[in-house]
Amino acid sequence: MADKLKRIDGRKSNELRPMTAKVGVVPNADGSAMFAFGNTIAIAAVYGPRLLHPQHMQNPATGILRCNYDLLSFSVNDRKKPGPSRRSQEISKMTEWALLPVLDLKEFPNTVIDVQIYIIQADAGTRTAGINAASLALAHAGIPMKNLVCSVAIGKQDKDIVTDLTKAEEDFEGGEGPTDFPLAKEANTNEFTLIQLDGKIPPERVKDVIEFANQACDEIYEVQKKALKEVVEQ
Ligand code: CDP
Repeated sequence: MADKLKRIDGRKSNELRPMTAKVGVVPNADGSAMFAFGNTIAIAAVYGPRLLHPQHMQNPATGILRCNYDLLSFSVNDRKKPGPSRRSQEISKMTEWALLPVLDLKEFPNTVIDVQIYIIQADAGTRTAGINAASLALAHAGIPMKNLVCSVAIGKQDKDIVTDLTKAEEDFEGGEGPTDFPLAKEANTNEFTLIQLDGKIPPERVKDVIEFANQACDEIYEVQKKALKEVVEQ
């Protein structure tokens, strides 16, 4: 099918922005990685497993995962007030939920694994870039994982489904209005670990969104694997 859609940056409807991934970017962390979709850059650093304090929060049956997402003040055009917000708390929580299904933390009772995710430059898709970086950082830290997690936001430009929206695309108000569909899945499977929806989409189009997400996640997985191999082969 010919792609007649005109995107602001000239990409095809199913085309991701150029991706960059690098593992081992924070030497003092137990594991770390950066992941970028175009101008959106996320850094993730993993600390732990280490004994959880206060003690009453410890779980003798398993370790726990604690993610902290933060959009840095000068990562956006209008300086963002430093510190936590409702938005950062929500994204931290859903990042944990997106990653937990691939982790086996039973080997680490009473401990916590902290994942710090910093967005150093934001142009939409920060939560998904953060999940991709965190997944790599956890693997780099040697945490037992049954798979990598790949994440992308699929959206709608009027009636067209598009992959990996920029901020300008997210803000597009024409036609049916903006729609943003962040997803995460276990690589090479049909197991989605996160599906969010901001906006509106007819239910019969959701299968197109899933198809676009599957294709994008296959490409993201290749970039993640290459980044991990680069540190293993050093
Ligand atoms: O970043 P993501 O698409 O996962 O989440 P969002 O809440 O839909 O935010 C979309 C974009 O809005 C961010 O990536 C930033 O580029 C921008 N934003 C901003 O400029 N200032 C904020 N305080 C929050 C978000």
